[in-house]
Amino acid sequence: MADSTDTKSSNQMWGGRFASGPDAIMEEINASIGFDKKLFAQDIRGSIAHATMLAHQGIISAEDKDKIVQGLNTILSEIESGNFEFSRKLEDIHMNVEARLATLIGPAAGRLHTARSRNDQVALDFRLWVKEELQKTERMLTDLIAAFLDRAEEHAETVMPGFTHLQTAQPVTFGHHCMAYVEMFGRDRSRVRHAIEHLDESPIGSAALAGTGYPIDRHMTAKALGFREPTRNSIDTVSDRDFAIEFLALAAICSMHLSRLAEEIVIWSTPQFGFVRLSDAFSTGSSIMPQKKNPDAAELVRAKTGRINGSLIALLTIMKGLPLAYSKDMQEDKEQVFDAAESLELAIAAMTGMVRDLTINTARMKAAAGSGYSTATDLADWLVREAGLPFRDAHHVTGRAVALAESKGCDLAELPLADLQAINAAISDKVYDVLTVEASVASRKSFGGTAPSEVRKQIAYWRARN
Ligand code: ARG
Repeated sequence: MADSTDTKSSNQMWGGRFASGPDAIMEEINASIGFDKKLFAQDIRGSIAHATMLAHQGIISAEDKDKIVQGLNTILSEIESGNFEFSRKLEDIHMNVEARLATLIGPAAGRLHTARSRNDQVALDFRLWVKEELQKTERMLTDLIAAFLDRAEEHAETVMPGFTHLQTAQPVTFGHHCMAYVEMFGRDRSRVRHAIEHLDESPIGSAALAGTGYPIDRHMTAKALGFREPTRNSIDTVSDRDFAIEFLALAAICSMHLSRLAEEIVIWSTPQFGFVRLSDAFSTGSSIMPQKKNPDAAELVRAKTGRINGSLIALLTIMKGLPLAYSKDMQEDKEQVFDAAESLELAIAAMTGMVRDLTINTARMKAAAGSGYSTATDLADWLVREAGLPFRDAHHVTGRAVALAESKGCDLAELPLADLQAINAAISDKVYDVLTVEASVASRKSFGGTAPSEVRKQIAYWRARN
């Protein structure tokens, strides 16, 4: 496309009031085309809906509308096929498109901007973009949840140590641990759905900030663009970036969840743990140490959280203290959201792949599940149930048994009955039934507990909702 402005002449959009063009630095700080060209499809969609409404309301002629729509469709295919020259002098995507439209269709192009402003235009484009991104995030989270449900089903009976403080606490099932992530990503997905609901209002027609005197129909454009309804306050509409902040906030929370999963995969895949083995597809080797298999993807997912948190804080800070309505500060919103969206998509996709591909070392998990006196609580519970001891006394008796096992260098289940009876005479050989990890997990049938039967119920619950 031929550049129709030059630095010396004043701007073609508002040149009437200006004697000269901007300083080079002004142009550089002002331009957003470098990043907001990403909004081209939304910008064109929005303009087509706006022009169609203007013609329907008799504000522009049907003939001009047809020229505008045709021209916009040409521009769309030019951009999609890489045959569009974006110009920084034209500042942003809105003016790049409009200037090209003028070249293509002549004076009719000048009618498109009737009853709107770039303030409601950018609010529209960005909302449309964020909405699509949220819909994509929702689908990706559904895939990640599905991956976990499959692994949970496969490993509903696989025992592993459950941890608190990263110290062995009580045996759990790997299926149960997987389902913890299903709950976390399920909450993330419901935050995504709420965010879609919040932003599902059309800003176009708010104009600069005060609305317009033209007889526009905002319900018509809202409907044409797939929004539930138009926004209700034109000042708020051009001031509002809550939808972008909500996206970043939910991305930050989701990314925090992903980083915890990443960290567990990093720990579990060490030779010291050996609970899981990463697939070749999601690990890297070392250029110097031939034996190594590194969890780089998991580490990068862990690190992306820093970037996403940074974007959230950046936009909150950009918006803080801004007077109503639009200020140019708000142009700084897009890069934060684009960068966070790219990071989040990558992180979810990498984790979905890793979860599907992980090889689970059930023997290592089981061996670890039984070490560290993980069934001590089961011994205490047995004393309460079978010997009628108050829980605090049972805790004390069990503590002595653990100390004895520790001094002998054996597990609780390996202590001879006589030793246990010396600590508390009520202990019978029935106690050995609860000292195995399988018996321990099978007994935890409380709602949401780790027993395989409970885990299967939770899998069924989520299958019905995924
Ligand atoms: N490029 C601007 C942005 O991204 C578009 C809106 C400009 N509005 C204005 N009054 N200067 O926010």
